Amino acid sequence: VNEQQTTYLQVIWRRKSIILASVLTFAVVAALVSETLQKVYSTSATLAVKQNSDSQTFDAVQAAQVVARTYGDILQSPNVAQLAANRLNDGQTKQQVQAAISVEPVAETQLIKLTAEDPSPTEAKAIADNYAQAFIDYARQRNLNVTTGASVSIADPAPTPTAPVRPKPTLYTLLATLIGLALGLALAFLRERMDSRIRTLEEIELIFDVPVLARVPARGKTETSIASFTEAYRVLRTNLQFATPEGPPRTIAITSMDEGEGKTTTASQLALVTAATGTNVLVVEADLRRPALQHFFVPGQREALRPGLSNYFLGGASLEEIIHPTTIPTVEFVPAGPTVPSLSGLLESNRGRTVIEDLAACADVTILDCPPLGLGADASTVAGRVDGVILVINLETATEKSVRNALRQLEAVRARVVGFVLNRDKSLETVYYGYLEDQVARQRETADR
Ligand SMILES: Nc1ncnc2c1ncn2[C@@H]1O[C@H](COP(=O)(O)OP(=O)(O)O)[C@@H](O)[C@H]1O
Ligand SMILES: [Mg+2]
Repeated sequence: VNEQQTTYLQVIWRRKSIILASVLTFAVVAALVSETLQKVYSTSATLAVKQNSDSQTFDAVQAAQVVARTYGDILQSPNVAQLAANRLNDGQTKQQVQAAISVEPVAETQLIKLTAEDPSPTEAKAIADNYAQAFIDYARQRNLNVTTGASVSIADPAPTPTAPVRPKPTLYTLLATLIGLALGLALAFLRERMDSRIRTLEEIELIFDVPVLARVPARGKTETSIASFTEAYRVLRTNLQFATPEGPPRTIAITSMDEGEGKTTTASQLALVTAATGTNVLVVEADLRRPALQHFFVPGQREALRPGLSNYFLGGASLEEIIHPTTIPTVEFVPAGPTVPSLSGLLESNRGRTVIEDLAACADVTILDCPPLGLGADASTVAGRVDGVILVINLETATEKSVRNALRQLEAVRARVVGFVLNRDKSLETVYYGYLEDQVARQRETADR
């Protein structure tokens, strides 16, 4: 399978719901419509044209074929239809009979096929048979056997049809399914073209001149899934060591354009893997509107920890008081404190201007979990004051535009964006897992020994 095919298959797989919906809609509608359509039965009587001369030479047979075509033309005359209507005598008009009948000389033979269609199978047979007989009467009246040198007779009366010719639910549904499939595929590729979401590392690297520090898969429930999730943050920790020419940033702000992209997840996981190396980490809740870190670092504590960051700004607490221990020995935590209208405003206060440096002095690494850039000035104000900013990009939702906007906001405050963290990276799940499965298996083996 070459690369082009892979991407087509990927698109089809990604858009399978559109395709499925289209196929199902068409199939169901076709099935329902064929169910409601009037059933039409069709049957044919066969007329034979016979040359008056007894010889069955090639010429005679050829001549009979020509006559069969001539008879075929006369068969469709309104006069014959009128005669047939009279014979039928069931209220059908000449026009109705004519519309129900079709005439077709059978190729390479002396036969003429007379087909009748009607909602009733017996009526279809009656029309075909009576029409055939009406024609024979007509031919006799007009002495056609003399004019043409050939006589006509019924070779085979019409059988009573058992199944309708129309509708054919199976055929219709099958055709509709194919049309639905074609349309679904077209829609899928159209949708794909209109989708401006960024999905892969390659796209990010092509568009932006910012390094990708880590790619995080969606955290599943399996051992390998959790292992590859955690591994991603170890990669982040390692890459941060080389993020700036001056070495690893000591104060790190984590932000993203929108809510739910994975800022808090990144902040807490990064704190965890950094602390695991023996580094003293201070995690700061800078998302004052939606504080979420306490639940992770101090799980036993139900009420919001106090005092927090906002207490410090307002002068109600000292730096030592707002730094709380966590369940992890090398991690300390600064909670949000009571909600304040604007963190960026407080950062302009006397204490606010130096708060990040003051906090940074209390640990080896300080990680600030920021609000989204799309919500007010808080995130960019914090971002402008740290050594390094990590921009989290949720690959399931981020667009080129949203990432550009985020970078623009960060540039405006001269923030130093050290790199991206690509969250919920789907391409990783297939590639990376294989490697990790091996690793997990090897670790198990070692543990068993
Ligand atoms: N890689 C991931 N795999 C699975 N769930 C994730 C992942 N990243 C984030 N989440 C979940 O998504 C939700 C939002 O993440 P969060 O880190 O709180 O976002 P933010 O802080 O940017 O608003 C949380 O429930 C979090 O557990
Ligand atoms: Mg958050």
